[in-house]
Amino acid sequence: MAKMAQGLADDLASTLLLASDKGVLVAPAMNVRMWNHPATQRNLAVLRADGVAVIGPDEGDMACGEHGPGRMAEPEAIMAAIRARLDTGPLLLEPQAQVARGVLAGRHVIVTSGPTHEPIDPVRYIANRSSGAQGAAIAGALRDQGARVSFVTGPAAVPAPAGVDVIRIETAREMRDAVEAALPADAAVMAAAVADWRVVNAVPRKMKKDGSGRPPTLDLAENPDILAWVSGLDGRRPKLVVGFAAETDDIVAHATAKRLRKGCDWIVANDVSDGTGIMGGTENAVTLIDETGAEEWPRLGKDEVARRLARRIAEALA
Ligand code: C5P
Repeated sequence: MAKMAQGLADDLASTLLLASDKGVLVAPAMNVRMWNHPATQRNLAVLRADGVAVIGPDEGDMACGEHGPGRMAEPEAIMAAIRARLDTGPLLLEPQAQVARGVLAGRHVIVTSGPTHEPIDPVRYIANRSSGAQGAAIAGALRDQGARVSFVTGPAAVPAPAGVDVIRIETAREMRDAVEAALPADAAVMAAAVADWRVVNAVPRKMKKDGSGRPPTLDLAENPDILAWVSGLDGRRPKLVVGFAAETDDIVAHATAKRLRKGCDWIVANDVSDGTGIMGGTENAVTLIDETGAEEWPRLGKDEVARRLARRIAEALA
């Protein structure tokens, strides 16, 4: 950083940096006192003024045994910062403020993801096979576009992306409350596989076989439909509400009807019929349905579906 700030070019890296007109992102990592030293902070200010983007350092324990700011940012956060810059156009040297701003900068998006767990007793629950992979990818893609993301997730099989506000819930009603607490938002993307029913006679102690041979009866009640509720909000309704529809047949007709029934703006319909390998897989075959009609996307990786959707959301909110 000191060499960059001075424009010294006496080795390959510093020569390349001086000879380049491309954007530069630095991820500083050093001892806490080195980081806090006025010389480093002076160099940092010079680099920022030159248009260099900075990620980190994080605060925490260091290899040298000390504690404080100076840890290298997490690799996933660095990758996200790189992707954000690649997604927002050519990496030309720009003032820091512009480099750091994605097209969704200043926007808040709520993403629901994963399954919900509806308890039967303290050890048993009703759930579904949602992995949460598509929702996590969407949250990451929105973050890469610069959005502030509230990621409301049930117990998913994939990790939450870095750089988003993670709100962990278990039941559909907790998910609804978390979404409400996260409002207001510019957009809401409801990718969660919310359980349709909860057990109303759930018990606080583990149920036991009583020896009678008669299994217990579970009484079910319908869960709140979070998508329909958000879509119908007065005043607090996000400008864009996106729902999902997992369909096995007649995809466009069913998803179009669902869009109207739920009152959302778009439905992302996916084909989960047998043999597609989409449920729990890494790819998705999607049809995007809005008020003008249906647009079939080719079979793509879930990450690419997420990027396309995030770009569409950015266009819709522009
Ligand atoms: O009615 P169905 O479950 O097929 O609708 C799917 C869409 O509705 C998804 O976007 C899902 O996240 C949302 N949904 C919801 N709350 C429910 C049920 C579904 O938000 N209780």
